[in-house]
Amino acid sequence: MSKDDFIVTPWHVEGKIDYDKLIKRFGTEKISNELLQRIEKIAGESHFMLRRGIFFSHRDMKRILDDYEKGNDFFLYTGRGPSGHTHIGHLVPWVFAKWLQDKFKTKMYFQLTDDEKFFSKPNLTLDETKKYAYENALDFIALGFKPENTKIIIDTENIQTLYPIAARVAKKINFSNTKAVFGFSNDTNIGMIFYTSLQSAPCFIENKPVLIPLGVDQDPHFRITRDVAPKIGKPKPALIHNIMIPALQGPGGKMSASEENTTIYTTDDADTVKKKINKYAFSGGQPDVEEHRKKGGNPDIDVSYQYLRIFFEPDDNKLKQIYDDYKSGKMLTGELKLILIEKINEFLKNHQEKREKARDQVKKFLFENS
Ligand code: TRP
Repeated sequence: MSKDDFIVTPWHVEGKIDYDKLIKRFGTEKISNELLQRIEKIAGESHFMLRRGIFFSHRDMKRILDDYEKGNDFFLYTGRGPSGHTHIGHLVPWVFAKWLQDKFKTKMYFQLTDDEKFFSKPNLTLDETKKYAYENALDFIALGFKPENTKIIIDTENIQTLYPIAARVAKKINFSNTKAVFGFSNDTNIGMIFYTSLQSAPCFIENKPVLIPLGVDQDPHFRITRDVAPKIGKPKPALIHNIMIPALQGPGGKMSASEENTTIYTTDDADTVKKKINKYAFSGGQPDVEEHRKKGGNPDIDVSYQYLRIFFEPDDNKLKQIYDDYKSGKMLTGELKLILIEKINEFLKNHQEKREKARDQVKKFLFENS
């Protein structure tokens, strides 16, 4: 891979991603200003993740809105591969999904793919991925979803429901097709090869069109699902994609830092957050204060600034002030990091309380096989 090339697949993301190029490569559509305004109009307000291009691309969003305006609703679906604790990047599509759910009054399905992570991670047992599925469910519930209109699917628990749908999907996917999309080889385990049909299954769980907010790395699965849909007499799933959330070390993050130091987990305590940000968050600042004051910092590559932009500072005016101050050299890297640390810790304090309360709630959210 050349220096300015990049890879985006569900199981491997590498390099500095050029999102316009990615849209072309994947064949998706950029979210235009017109579409943005249309969503705002129907929702009655805009969302900072849309305004800032955190959600930047889509498939068939227009059809979803056309149908919605004619009185035909849709449902929402997203998911998580439980390979460990939830980190703050995972919350991006979930928070946005919650907003969509509130604005469009839809039902929501959340899939936890304990099987997938067992297949794709050599060192994880099925017991471990299942344990993480239940842990990750707490983070999802903590964001304010309600059991009346939100169902959590755990693959190994709900296989009875998923399997008949997955089977219909699987029959329409041939090996050369998945191989081309995911780059499978002869030593790929066959769980992985079948898996895409399980991630497709929730798309067809209701007799309605589905809209999926998701990280763009998951698009390849649904490209396949969209090809299959008409062949099994179902509407194609619509998608709305968010950008990848950079590791603390930055997009081309050094792999030498241990995995847990590349990100902030929702279970991290305040002190850990402080240490991780101070030690690892890639800085767009100058090597010393004098130079920083003179030349200013680069917020566009600064991970602390990016975290504020992506998630932790919804207020556009405040964000702009930080941007300007950092760029002019008025704000130092340490000061910027402090703002982020305080924002994250404030968020996590609240989140962790709700997360613990969610333990008694989980049962009500779990999808029941009929
Ligand atoms: N494969 C996803 C992951 O590794 C989990 C997932 C399942 C998902 N269904 C989804 C993600 C639907 C987005 C949308 O995280």
